[in-house]
Amino acid sequence: MTDRWISDGLLIVTVKCIPNSNSNSQIDRQGLVSLYNPIRTSSNPTTPIQIGNGNFAFGTDITSLQTFLPFNTLSSWGWKNDSLPPNVTQSDISAYEGVSWLNHGRPVQYDFNGNNKEIEQWLISNPNRVNLGRIGLVFLDDKNGVMNVTEEDLKNPRQILDLWSGTITSTFSIQNTSITIKVASSSSSSSTTNTIAIHLKSNLLSKHQLGLFLDFPWCDGTSKFNAPFVGSFDNFQTNHTTTLQTLSPFRNIIQHTLDSTTFVTTLNGDAHTIQRNDLINHKYTVLPHIQVTNTNHDSQWTLTVTFGKSTTDQTLQAKDIFKESEKVWEDYWSNGGFVDVLTGSTDTRANELQRRIILSRYLMRVNEAGDTPPQESGLVNNGWVQMYFWHSAHWALWNNWDLLLRSSSIYNRFLPTSISRSQIQQGWPSGARWPKMTDPSGRSSPGQINNLLLWQQPHPLIFAEYEYRSFPTRETLEKWENVVRETADWMAAFAWFNESTKVYDLGPPAYVVSEDTSPNVTQNPAFELAYWKFGLGIAEKWMDALGKNVPQSWIDVKNNLAPLPVDNGTYMVYEGIEKNFWDDPAYTSDHPALVGLHGWLPPTDGLDLAMAKATAEKVWTHWNRTEFWGWDFPMLAMSAARNGEPDRAIDWLLDPLFQFDDAGMPIGGTRVPTPYFPGSGSLLLAIAMMTAGWDGSKEEKAPGFPDGWNVTFENINKLL
Ligand SMILES: *[C@@H]1O[C@H](CO)[C@@H](O)[C@H](O)[C@H]1NC(C)=O
Ligand SMILES: *[C@@H]1O[C@H](CO)[C@@H](O)[C@H](O)[C@H]1NC(C)=O
Ligand SMILES: *[C@@H]1O[C@H](CO)[C@@H](O)[C@H](O)[C@H]1NC(C)=O
Ligand SMILES: *[C@@H]1O[C@H](CO)[C@@H](O)[C@H](O)[C@H]1NC(C)=O
Ligand SMILES: *[C@@H]1O[C@H](CO)[C@@H](O)[C@H](O)[C@H]1NC(C)=O
Ligand SMILES: *[C@@H]1O[C@H](CO)[C@@H](O)[C@H](O)[C@H]1NC(C)=O
Ligand SMILES: *[C@@H]1O[C@H](CO)[C@@H](O)[C@H](O)[C@H]1NC(C)=O
Ligand SMILES: *[C@@H]1O[C@H](CO)[C@@H](O)[C@H](O)[C@H]1NC(C)=O
Ligand SMILES: *[C@@H]1O[C@H](CO)[C@@H](O)[C@H](O)[C@H]1NC(C)=O
Ligand SMILES: *[C@@H]1O[C@H](CO)[C@@H](O)[C@H](O)[C@H]1NC(C)=O
Repeated sequence: MTDRWISDGLLIVTVKCIPNSNSNSQIDRQGLVSLYNPIRTSSNPTTPIQIGNGNFAFGTDITSLQTFLPFNTLSSWGWKNDSLPPNVTQSDISAYEGVSWLNHGRPVQYDFNGNNKEIEQWLISNPNRVNLGRIGLVFLDDKNGVMNVTEEDLKNPRQILDLWSGTITSTFSIQNTSITIKVASSSSSSSTTNTIAIHLKSNLLSKHQLGLFLDFPWCDGTSKFNAPFVGSFDNFQTNHTTTLQTLSPFRNIIQHTLDSTTFVTTLNGDAHTIQRNDLINHKYTVLPHIQVTNTNHDSQWTLTVTFGKSTTDQTLQAKDIFKESEKVWEDYWSNGGFVDVLTGSTDTRANELQRRIILSRYLMRVNEAGDTPPQESGLVNNGWVQMYFWHSAHWALWNNWDLLLRSSSIYNRFLPTSISRSQIQQGWPSGARWPKMTDPSGRSSPGQINNLLLWQQPHPLIFAEYEYRSFPTRETLEKWENVVRETADWMAAFAWFNESTKVYDLGPPAYVVSEDTSPNVTQNPAFELAYWKFGLGIAEKWMDALGKNVPQSWIDVKNNLAPLPVDNGTYMVYEGIEKNFWDDPAYTSDHPALVGLHGWLPPTDGLDLAMAKATAEKVWTHWNRTEFWGWDFPMLAMSAARNGEPDRAIDWLLDPLFQFDDAGMPIGGTRVPTPYFPGSGSLLLAIAMMTAGWDGSKEEKAPGFPDGWNVTFENINKLL
């Protein structure tokens, strides 16, 4: 287990301007978006209402801050390393070696089952993402004593997230005095600092009875999977320190050092005093300096809180942050892809589907649009990171290139380490082997599945292809050239020519998409064979477009891959699997990638469409449905759509087991915590496909939607 993001990605690129389509939009975009503004009248104990920008997110309770519940403040830049285990040095860490397994008789070195468990665990736990701090309200009595206020003491609490401007507002009263809080996050991408703007309005301010507290938790590798709250606020002094630097009544700084990493929190804005509560904890109280007045007019107080890795000279004002948030969010809603399935639809589920689309669009931009590939739970809480495809491919179809290009650059960034993994560590003659789970340096996280999984390998080819479709220039071709070449080289090298059958086999050893087969016997998995063929086809076209020779090995492998394994009229998970695997829960309780043969993937050479459809339908009846989770539902929908069954496609998207909460957070279910964002990313991918269609789909209307749906879409690209 690891919190990590998967490797997959590519070059940093300048952001292209996409023409504003709002002005001539057929859809009342603002009206539709605003219909789904989440409104709460009490805190949800497990999911926050968030603001953020993809690299940073701030999760709030009913007060639009973190007053009663310590929801998290997470970023894509806030990492730390734990100190090394006793007697372990950095060179011991660098010298970590896993295990050697045979690949068709050749020993290959992998990062798992190393003989030093302590070092292996350290490599799994580090670096880990830090909860940058907590901000809440402090209530004082008329003698300046801190009052013990609980959420039950608030009267008429109401919190609303305004999706169109990315701001949250809470109102409530306490002791007959009303309080209004409005917050927004800095919206443009910054890889080192991010800011929260807070605007408070209440009579209690001028009476010196309302202020803020800040608190800083200890975080380490053990909090890597903490949900919904990350880190410990009780570990007062042992391993971390905070120091306050008071600069002026308008600007103050707190440094937080955990092991050898320091984060800096800067307060900036209206006059205030700040003090540490005592020397044991890491809690600070911030009180406004406001003249006591006799009027009953509400006083106002604004402050920005900037989290960063170092001090900045920035003196951001709250009003600038609010303005920026309005502009960036309006641009996002106005310019990217947009889908209206609500207006004019007669299916009663249209409202729920529209809600999921809008809220997923919001949450993806807050949580899954950073410089590094996202965690499964985005920036809501900590969780492991993988499946970059499901998290991020939708950005390409919804034309949010500025957001996708932030992270897809990792393919170029991780190319050297992936070449080294392939050729130096594992002894392959050529190519780059992409890791499944990695860290900001590109290192593969130790683990058997992480090291033997195959399906992450072709992903960069898909991202490259979508980018080329949108930006069909030589520049795009050249930007991806090395990644495409090294990716395909390893795919060709890994395919093993079987002298007795005269075809190229994939594996063993290998893990399939569902990660539930035995790696040493897993050979020629159906989905992976098809994905190899599809990926190599893209790589060939890439070289053709560049006017360069296509390596013969790619052509040989693509044309002579083992046939997809078949039995009694359906495809099988892998060649040699028990024929009755359909009735064995060991094989029918996880991701049903067989339905991806025609749906997620377009038809590959030699695919029998009738058999692919029969296979999908057999999955529907034989897989344990209560075990479907997350992206399985959109994958099932995409398969139904491509197989010409749009009624079923809609049923899968709205399956009772595929749930999104009131804030749009996809429910994790029994296997993973909520939110499980691959559910949202895959939903948006499926919606794009079902509206704009796919290569070869009928053009006349949204081909994945059945009668009863009036679907209007703008600026959405087709699925391959
Ligand atoms: C953690 O340590 C690794 C070396 O093991 C180093 O590459 C990385 O930069 C460190 N990260 C942080 C956040 O300190
Ligand atoms: C503090 O760090 C040491 C090692 O650096 C570790 O053994 C200990 O568990 C940590 N304490 C806490 C409370 O996390
Ligand atoms: C660290 O190494 C020293 C010297 O080899 C040894 O005496 C000590 O017990 C070791 N400590 C731990 C915690 O392993
Ligand atoms: C797979 O084969 C390797 C030898 O190549 C062996 O060491 C390992 O234990 C086997 N793993 C399993 C899960 O059978
Ligand atoms: C605050 O009040 C709540 C409910 O009345 C109580 O459970 C809690 O222990 C109190 N906390 C403190 C610090 O007094
Ligand atoms: C709140 O106001 C109402 C009427 O305005 C009054 O009856 C009540 O006593 C007040 N409560 C407090 C706690 O001041
Ligand atoms: C379908 O939706 C579009 C866009 O919202 C709307 O203009 C049109 O009137 C709707 N058609 C029907 C039949 O309601
Ligand atoms: C060659 O392919 C056959 C049929 O798939 C398989 O049984 C055999 O194990 C393969 N040979 C080797 C050496 O892997
Ligand atoms: C083959 O599939 C048919 C349905 O298509 C089924 O009725 C039959 O039992 C299957 N045969 C075997 C041997 O599994
Ligand atoms: C399906 O999975 C559920 C757990 O989600 C389990 O309780 C049930 O027994 C399984 N059904 C079958 C037929 O295996």
